[in-house]
This record gives sequence, structure tokens and C-alpha cells, in this order.
Amino acid sequence: MVAYGADGPGCVALIRQSGGAVLAGNCEIQLAADAADCGCGYGQGSACAVLARDSYAHARAGLDAAARGWMAGLPRRIVFTHAGRRYAVLHGGASDVSRFIWPDTGDDVFEHEIRLLQAGIGAVDGVVAGHCGIAFRRRVAGIDWINAGVIGLPPHDGHRATRFAVLDGDAPRIERLDYDAEAAAAEMCAAGLTQGYDAALLSGWWPSEDTLPPGLRRYVD
Ligand SMILES: [Fe+2]
Repeated sequence: MVAYGADGPGCVALIRQSGGAVLAGNCEIQLAADAADCGCGYGQGSACAVLARDSYAHARAGLDAAARGWMAGLPRRIVFTHAGRRYAVLHGGASDVSRFIWPDTGDDVFEHEIRLLQAGIGAVDGVVAGHCGIAFRRRVAGIDWINAGVIGLPPHDGHRATRFAVLDGDAPRIERLDYDAEAAAAEMCAAGLTQGYDAALLSGWWPSEDTLPPGLRRYVD
């Protein structure tokens, strides 16, 4: 809910007002514990680990005890039924909240994560996940894995539009969101968050390309 952007408390307030179901990701778990880092799972010294440090510290400084207490009570799994299909929502993976599962990750990883998930909550028809930052759909062993993407950061494709997923009828679909990226980037600059994600809102390219699998980078070295 609060990673990278300028106004974490404002986002938390809006999301709480919406009354929608909310799942804990690594940032919420770490903020709830008042931990020193976001626990995103990137390697130490990677561009993301370095660049995300200040935005996490900014989020941590801005949230009050009530917001942290609310985050502490958020579930790690949500299960619901829609159009006769049972879905589970998790953040990164079933094995690890910070597991990076990419559009080009092998089927064996999806199968392993789905097995683990189903061992805990029973059979599902679909999984809604996030964390890696890139929206995609995969069908593995008859189960839909839907990464809903990130509504606050474009998916490293050179465009400003961000992504979200809609479950409407049988088929989940991924939508693009056009929003005032200039204003969001300006707010980040004003807050001193000029480590690269502010520019990413405008350019559509992440500053942390070294964290992506080679096939998803602009330049492969
Ligand atoms: Fe995450």
C-alpha cells in the first residue's frame, strides 16, 4: 500500500475508507513490526535494495501507531468465491511472502507454490498474487495464476500507465490505469524521494533493472 510513493498515510486512509478486503504484503508486515527494512527479498546491494531504503524509511516515519496496528491485523491469505470459482489471494508466493514469481518463471515453481497453498486452504481454481511488480496471467495445471500488478508503479514497459486486475464474469483481466503521474512524481520529489522511482513514474522504466530476470530487462548484459 505504501511502498515507494510519497503519501503512505493518505493511501492507507483511502484504502481503509473503501472497506475492501486487504491482504498483508511484505511492506505491511515489516511496517507493522516497525522493522528497519521492507523485507522485499532483493539481494543486498542490488539497485532496489539501495533505492528502496529511503522510500521505506519515509513510509515508516509517516505511519502512526493506529495504521501500524491495523496492518498487524491484516491476513496473509484471503479466499473467496466468484462466479462459481474459488480464488485465493496471497502476496508473493505460498512459500514466502516475498517470493518473486515472474511472467517467465518455470511451471515447476507455480506448481510447487499452488501445492503448498492448497495444502493450507484446500483446492482453488485461481490464485491472485502480486509482489514482483509485473501483471500477468498464467495457467498452470488447470489453475489460473493472476498477478494483479502494481497500481502505483508502471510495469517497466516505457509507459506511464499502471496495472490492476478485474474479476468480472469468468475471465480475470488486466486493465491499464492512466492517472496523474506528474503530480505523483512531483510529490515524491517534494518529499525527497528522488532515488529513481519518481522518474520511473514518468519514464515507465524502473531504476532497479538488475532485479529483473534477464528476459524482462531492456538491455541484457
Ligand atoms: Fe511486495
